Amino acid sequence: MLVTETEPTTNAAPVLVGFGAFQQLLDEAELRNIAVRPTHRCRGVGRSLLTEAIHLLREAGIGRLFLEVRPSNAPARALYASMGFQVVGMRPAYYADPPEDALIMALEISPARADL
Ligand SMILES: CC(C)(COP(=O)(O)OP(=O)(O)OC[C@H]1O[C@@H](n2cnc3c(N)ncnc32)[C@H](O)[C@@H]1OP(=O)(O)O)[C@@H](O)C(=O)NCCC(=O)NCCS
Repeated sequence: MLVTETEPTTNAAPVLVGFGAFQQLLDEAELRNIAVRPTHRCRGVGRSLLTEAIHLLREAGIGRLFLEVRPSNAPARALYASMGFQVVGMRPAYYADPPEDALIMALEISPARADL
C-alpha cells in the first residue's frame, strides 16, 4: 500500500510519502514493514495508512494482524499501541545491526472490531 502526495500548484510527479507492506497467512496477516518519509512524519500519515489497510484486510477476511517491532522504536510502538495493538510475545535476538530482540504485537481486526 502506497501513500503519495502531489504539490497542487505544480505539474510535478507525485511524491511517495509512505508505504506499508503486508503478507497474508490464511486468515491472519503480518505487517512486514511500514515507513513514512522523514519530512512527512508526525502528520497522521502512518495512522491513516494503517487504518485504511486494516479496513482492506478485514474485507479480505483477515481476523488478526501481527507485527514485529524493536523495543527501542518508540515512535512505531506508540503508533501501534495507540491503535490497540498489544504485545503478545518476544523473539530473542531477532534484529541485527544493531542486535535487538523483537516484540511481537497483535491486533484483532475481525468485524467485531469494526470501530478500528
Ligand atoms: C513509525 C512511523 C511509520 C510513524 O509514522 P507517522 O506518520 O509519523 O505517524 P503518525 O503521524 O500517524 O502518528 C500516529 C501516532 O504514532 C505515535 N507517534 C508517531 N511518531 C511519534 C514520535 N516521534 N514519538 C512518539 N510517538 C509518535 C503517536 O502516538 C501518534 O499519535 P498522535 O499524533 O495522536 O500523538 C514513522 O515514524 C516511520 O516511518 N519510522 C521509520 C520506519 C519504522 O520504524 N517503521 C516501523 C517498523 S516496525
